[in-house]
Amino acid sequence: MRVLFVSSEVAPFSKTGGLADVSGALPAALARAGADVRIVTPLYRSVRQGPWHLRPAGEVRVTGAFPGERVVVWEGAVPGGNVAVWFVDHPGSFDRPGLYGESGRDYPDNLERFALFCHAALSWVQVSGWQADVVHCNDWQTALIPVYLRTWPDPRWAPVGCLLTIHNLAYQGLFPAEKYPHLGLPPELYSPRYLEFWGRVNLLKGGLAFADVLSTVSETYAREIQTPELGCGLDGVLRERAADLYGILNGVDYSVWDPRNDQYLPARYGPEDLSGKRVCKAALQEEMGLRTDPSVPLFGMVSRLVEQKGVDLVAACVDRFPAAAAELVILGTGDPTYEEVLQQAAERHPGWVAVRIGFDERLAHWIEAGCDAFLMPSRYEPSGLNQLYSLRYGTVPVVRRTGGLADSVVDATPEALARGQANGFVFDDYSPEAFWSAVQRALAAYRDPATWGRLLRAGMAADFSWERTAARYLDLYRLARRKRGAVPS
Ligand code: ADP
Ligand code: GLC
Repeated sequence: MRVLFVSSEVAPFSKTGGLADVSGALPAALARAGADVRIVTPLYRSVRQGPWHLRPAGEVRVTGAFPGERVVVWEGAVPGGNVAVWFVDHPGSFDRPGLYGESGRDYPDNLERFALFCHAALSWVQVSGWQADVVHCNDWQTALIPVYLRTWPDPRWAPVGCLLTIHNLAYQGLFPAEKYPHLGLPPELYSPRYLEFWGRVNLLKGGLAFADVLSTVSETYAREIQTPELGCGLDGVLRERAADLYGILNGVDYSVWDPRNDQYLPARYGPEDLSGKRVCKAALQEEMGLRTDPSVPLFGMVSRLVEQKGVDLVAACVDRFPAAAAELVILGTGDPTYEEVLQQAAERHPGWVAVRIGFDERLAHWIEAGCDAFLMPSRYEPSGLNQLYSLRYGTVPVVRRTGGLADSVVDATPEALARGQANGFVFDDYSPEAFWSAVQRALAAYRDPATWGRLLRAGMAADFSWERTAARYLDLYRLARRKRGAVPS
């Protein structure tokens, strides 16, 4: 199975969130399962400046809406993963400080940037000498690919299957109607059945109409997005395609996220000996200016600071942590209002609440390892990776029952504890009261070492590796191929 994996961010080259982690790890797992995988992604400025040994692979002239635009393609590989990566180099589009925008504002030409990227990715494959059996697209930035695949006259694409994975339905790639001609698509596709959405261009909607198979990153989210509450206006479209829509929970790259071999940590540890975790806690408290008391429960959060993540619940309860003799450390960046609210809380509670605004890979690992419990009170969460990381690090997750959080965290009810299945704390209502009562339950369990030890061990024993997940994606690729009339390979 030859798989072209197209993504707008790929760790460790470029990252704003979980999509990068997925794109850096899933293709390698597919390759280990025997697939021939190539990744295509933009050459952003941060990639250009990184320590990667890229070599020029060739160039293409992009046609369609961008007549004659020259795109150079560079080739590299995912470190340790042995998967080739093609980087689309178009300085006018990608040699910028941000991936999608700067200071919380999207770049105004994102439609042109990602339309060019999609065009270039397919044009490059046509001349590369390599042929795909299936194209795996991810989110709105690549959602034009299924549309191009089915509207370009080149017969080579006809048998090629296409899977589109939704990592976050709230981001759809919405643009003013005047921009539609820039896509190089027939005018009749600007209709409510395809790319038109309440008077605007909706790139994701086009992808949902044309991809052979659709998936999202947990089974619960696959159901939730078919409801008006979480369907972001596309629930009708998704209900229509329900038979082609699958939910596959994300996996974890344990070569990067495992306290036994985590290169970032001041000490390593595993379930058999947690003394390294205590070293990590002390180092984190010290670095963040918290009281270095090993017995104080330490809660952590690493997150984009946006509405999705339940930051308002944390902000509403932040003063209660010191009052309950618990410490709180938050790493994040995003909405300036939340950044400010959290920073003010840290100023009010020196030694108890510590906040770092910014993107810091090392500190993210330190928080996973050094904390006792991890907060993810998300309003919605397609999959979520940090709760999966937390489980492996023996850092008990406190989460809201939604999306992938509901599919991975088992609430510490007496029955689940007795069965040895409980691994965290789950609450339902999106309210500060419900959130705080889950935190209080975590605090009570923390004071009972036998209970806490059971939770922690159940979490650390769980296996969310990509190996299991890769097999399911291969099934979807076969399905997409069959839908194109191809013989299963
Ligand atoms: P999402 O993709 O919605 O942001 P996920 O839980 O799937 O949520 O993945 C988030 C990823 O981004 C994790 O690897 C997390 O550690 C990382 N991350 C988020 N914010 C930061 C930050 N400020 N600094 C470092 N890593 C971050
Ligand atoms: C999105 C979602 C997150 C998911 C990630 C990778 O950013 O918000 O829940 O884990 O994509 O699939």
